[in-house]
Amino acid sequence: MVKLISAKLNNLTLAQKLTILLLVIFIGGIVLSGVALASVLNYKAQTEISSKALLLMQSMNSVRYYTNTEVSPQLVSRLKAEEFLPQTVPAYSANKVFDKLRADDSDYADYSYREAMLNPTNIRDKSDDFESQLVADFRNNINTKELQGFRFLGGKQIFYMARPISVTASSCLRCHSTPDIAPKGMIQLYGTTNGFDWKLNEVLGTQIVSVPASQILQKARQSFVVVMGIVAMVFAVTILMANLWLKQYIIRPIKKIVLVAEAVSTGDMNADFEKTSNDEVGSLVEAFTRMKLSLAMAIKKFERNRKATPKSDN
Ligand code: HEC
Repeated sequence: MVKLISAKLNNLTLAQKLTILLLVIFIGGIVLSGVALASVLNYKAQTEISSKALLLMQSMNSVRYYTNTEVSPQLVSRLKAEEFLPQTVPAYSANKVFDKLRADDSDYADYSYREAMLNPTNIRDKSDDFESQLVADFRNNINTKELQGFRFLGGKQIFYMARPISVTASSCLRCHSTPDIAPKGMIQLYGTTNGFDWKLNEVLGTQIVSVPASQILQKARQSFVVVMGIVAMVFAVTILMANLWLKQYIIRPIKKIVLVAEAVSTGDMNADFEKTSNDEVGSLVEAFTRMKLSLAMAIKKFERNRKATPKSDN
């Protein structure tokens, strides 16, 4: 196989051999750098997307925490037992803050924050099929603390980050266990059918953040095309320049030497090797010039000897 290839290569011109060598390097280089670049860009894009999701998730959790530790105690202590203000509820404030964020800037139109429950207090929080599946996954594997990935929604690619929601404090059950112990004011607003019978430490829903991914992934793809285009262009120019160089400094001078050598070999002693450079090709020209001189001298000597020696009769 190797023999066959080297035999084939031997039949090619220098320019063809060089082009094949450069093409092999070129294709290898393109494939290697393409794979490396794609994975770097992809990693960068995914980190950018997931850090956005994480920031949103943590911000909403901070809002929840603030409501739970600062707002709720202040308000609840001022309310009568049956009185209720949704402003005391962390889920309410998180959703309000997120709605405001989205309303103020159209850039956030494709973002979403949900506390999706199988049995929600606010019917807006009812989990859809996808979210219910996530809740089932969290229930099936209690050790899973986060699930994330990409999915298509309305033709757009989005990244989601989901965490399980469970109730760990019994104080929560005042409003989420049975309607008769819930504040009357809350029942008036939310009714008695949804958001009750929650059990402690059971996965009840999922806190899920979605951020648009299409744009960032598309930017990564564009960067990939631009960089690979530049690399391909550099390689193409390299092959072209290398061929021009080979022609100018090696092939053309060698062809001239060949022409002169052929002329000399047919007896034209006026044909002169012409030295145009001081490199290896120049040395070759010098060597050929010396050889031609020696040849000329040898011929002269031979002629003289032939004239001097009388012809033998035969
Ligand atoms: C004073 C009553 C009350 C208490 C106490 C309470 N909640 Fe709620 N919870 C509500 C109400 C009302 C809503 C609906 C808020 C809305 O409209 O966004 C709600 C909503 C939620 C939601 C969003 C999903 C849904 O059902 O609409 C979660 C999650 C939640 N609560 C968890 C908890 C946890 C965990 C605790 C304990 C730390 C807790 N709640 C304590 C009244 C309460």
